[in-house]
Amino acid sequence: MNFPHIYYGGDYNPEQWGPETWEEDARLMQEAGVNLVSLGVFSWSKIEPEAGRYNFSWLDHVMDLLHKHGVSINLATPTASPPPWLVLSNPEILPVTIDGKKLWYGSRRHYCPHSPAFHERAKLLVTKLAEHVRGHPALTLWHVDNELACHISECFCDVSIGQFRAWLQQRYESLDKLNEAWGTNFWSQHYSQWEEVTAPLRTPASVNPSQHLDWLRFCSDSWVDVFTEQKKILKTITPDIPVTTNFMGFFKPLDYWTLAAQEDVVSNDSYPDPSDPDWMIYSGMMCDLVRSLRNGEPWLLMEQAPAQVNWRARNATKRPGIMRLGSYQALGRGGNGIMFFQWRASQSGSEKFHSAMLPHAGPASRTWREVKVLGTELGKLDALLSSRVRSEVGILFDWHNWWALEQSDKPSNELRLLPQLKALYAEFFRRNIPVDFIQAEADLSPYKLIVAPHLYLTSKAAGANIERYVAGGGTLFMTYFSGIVDRNDRVLLGGYPAAFRRTLGLWIEEFVVYMQSQSNTVITFDEQLYNCSQWSDIIHLEGAEALGHYQDDFFAGEPAVTRHQFGRGFSYYLGTELAPEGLSWLYDRICIDANVRPALSAPPRVEVTCRTDGAHTWLFALNHSDAHVNVRLPSQGVDLFSGASVNTLEMEPKGVAVIQLEGQV
Ligand code: GAL
Repeated sequence: MNFPHIYYGGDYNPEQWGPETWEEDARLMQEAGVNLVSLGVFSWSKIEPEAGRYNFSWLDHVMDLLHKHGVSINLATPTASPPPWLVLSNPEILPVTIDGKKLWYGSRRHYCPHSPAFHERAKLLVTKLAEHVRGHPALTLWHVDNELACHISECFCDVSIGQFRAWLQQRYESLDKLNEAWGTNFWSQHYSQWEEVTAPLRTPASVNPSQHLDWLRFCSDSWVDVFTEQKKILKTITPDIPVTTNFMGFFKPLDYWTLAAQEDVVSNDSYPDPSDPDWMIYSGMMCDLVRSLRNGEPWLLMEQAPAQVNWRARNATKRPGIMRLGSYQALGRGGNGIMFFQWRASQSGSEKFHSAMLPHAGPASRTWREVKVLGTELGKLDALLSSRVRSEVGILFDWHNWWALEQSDKPSNELRLLPQLKALYAEFFRRNIPVDFIQAEADLSPYKLIVAPHLYLTSKAAGANIERYVAGGGTLFMTYFSGIVDRNDRVLLGGYPAAFRRTLGLWIEEFVVYMQSQSNTVITFDEQLYNCSQWSDIIHLEGAEALGHYQDDFFAGEPAVTRHQFGRGFSYYLGTELAPEGLSWLYDRICIDANVRPALSAPPRVEVTCRTDGAHTWLFALNHSDAHVNVRLPSQGVDLFSGASVNTLEMEPKGVAVIQLEGQV
């Protein structure tokens, strides 16, 4: 996608207001520097008030008005909330829960992604809409549906179950292969005809985990199909308009690697909780994921809250400066657009107390003033549109692994990927070392360091890829419960972690899981003592050296942390859950071996990221602390807000600086 400017704007829902308000909206958008709005996201019943009767006059009016005011349009296909008339004529479009309950209209997202009637009406609607707006000068981007799979990601109606069966028939071709893959000799689950195969419904004890894993794959694929079906129509009618759909960061039900590959540009909705003092770590991690999904291409922050949301138990507001920090974080991590939910605060409905760029109080408000300042600043930053973030660290992240790891019946059923990932990511974040997310079978050669957090599910190809990477001089850091099962959740025999045994130079005999009150200590080779808990692998070395040993329990003296020189590279393995100080000790060593370091050394809670186009580097410094701090730049640069030439940044609490430097840092 071609970005002529840094985009700035938000969801615009003019159907909630009358024409007098539209005029004021357009004028105020211009005043705030808005140049893109997401239009019509939930407007199906307004566009098609009854089956086959389309009303585009209001949309034409709004699109022309926005165009006159220099505002481009990210037009949504309004399929995320089917109108009541469609449910009355085709009640089978409603989604059904695992307990057989239908979910009704009167809210949103009440459709089954497999319903033929839904698909028929949606295809017609999207076709009519695209034909109608084709050639409109403000039409810039298509926004398919809204947050696909949000609220309800799976449907257990009969049509869905039938489609699951068809999906399995395509995947396995024969029942024999399915029986083999699912290990159905266990608990007498063997299938002898396709009709017996069903969704993982409510069962007395745990359902077959391989069956459940395939169900999750099927559900994810179904949402990708909803997207690609609409995209095909849009591309036929308006081939030059790029197509996106808004993601939700680390959203478990939907494999975004697969969906992003179908998009022209990735966009994301980000709602970190401002009451969390470390909100910036998780939201930074989301930015890095989203940028990575299309290999570092620029992306759009499609939604964020200007102040507070309405859907937490208590909705903390973003205090002065926080919205600006979050916006520059997205820009510094490769975003080329900063958008909000929503433009004008609603008067009715369940989101009336959600913040908006234009609050109920109107322009006489703090939020509006902050929105205007940001719009003015972003208008000065077009120079960095074609620059990219460059990372030397890649963290392996894969939805299939996430699904498989978190199914039931594990040694510890409290091992959850996201908190683990956050802890491992946080160490890089605090060191200001940029990271990408990457898949285990992808080209790893751009990275000096690959981190593999709990890569429980793997494949032969991934094992070979990682082995080649380390042998060729890369550094690997892998954490416990990795390399345990194949893609069908069948244990890889011959000593854990079979796929990585050679690369790591060790094998694992058994896992010891700690009860909540238990812990142990790791004694390192340089005589540091670090607390560890949750889990201990009983490790046997096969070439690796121990960097730390357990102090207590029946495995006292056995290795807990290891390092293996393999070919021209190194692989590190962490067989337990180290307390943060221990993790930091380990990162010091790994980063030295891998030769990765930040662009500059910054005071605590100052986030530094860089974008470069080769000729220039744009350095973003974000002071998340409440202190005045000084940051020494690697060379003299130009402050893009003030135009001044600077060597050292003198930053206010919650301050932001964007500095242009010559060359690459
Ligand atoms: C998003 C959604 C928006 C709005 C927003 C409120 O998940 O896409 O339509 O509901 O949340 O925070």
